[in-house]
Amino acid sequence: MAHTVAVIVGSLRKESFSLKIANALARLAPASLKFEIITLHGLSFYNQDLEATPPADWVAFREKVQACDAVLFVTPEYNRSTSGVLKNAIDVGSRPSGKSSFNGKPTGIISNSPGAIGGMGAAMQLKSILPGISGPIMQQPEIYLNGVGDAFDDKGTLTKEALEKVLKAYIEAFAAWVERLKK
Ligand SMILES: Cc1cc2nc3c(=O)[nH]c(=O)nc-3n(C[C@H](O)[C@H](O)[C@H](O)COP(=O)(O)O)c2cc1C
Repeated sequence: MAHTVAVIVGSLRKESFSLKIANALARLAPASLKFEIITLHGLSFYNQDLEATPPADWVAFREKVQACDAVLFVTPEYNRSTSGVLKNAIDVGSRPSGKSSFNGKPTGIISNSPGAIGGMGAAMQLKSILPGISGPIMQQPEIYLNGVGDAFDDKGTLTKEALEKVLKAYIEAFAAWVERLKK
């Protein structure tokens, strides 16, 4: 049976490279993974006052993540960190305290940038934020995708062969790792 992966995209931009990478991964993933791509449009800011009656968009987000077997974060880098919308989604998903929707789920982190360093600062921030509220984070292979600005055609299809090779290797390793952990 396929394992479902909540692929959480850390950019709201229509032409987001992070979203295009998530879509490319869905195409390249082995049949043992089923992708649920989650974008964060309309997810309310976390406000602890609302926890007594959580907004419907928080509940929907939490339930979507909870329904999946694994989680994959695809993040851009904003000022050497992850984006604000992704941090907000992590805050929403991490609560109520002790009931994180991410808890126990095998987790992957993919950062990207049109720049040279591949958003490594964003990935490192996630590696610092997630451990108390997620499941195990896949350590190898690591993936920081640089130079993504010329990797897609005007329909959003991945055309850069070198990037496709890296994504395929990553998602195959992730699938095998999830399979091992879920046995
Ligand atoms: C507020 C802001 C901060 C940024 N900071 C960084 C950065 O620290 N490192 C980097 O490589 N790119 C940075 N960028 C450029 C982003 O990598 C680029 O806009 C990218 O396309 C965003 O990801 P997306 O295509 O998924 O929306 C920044 C962009 C914005 C809007």
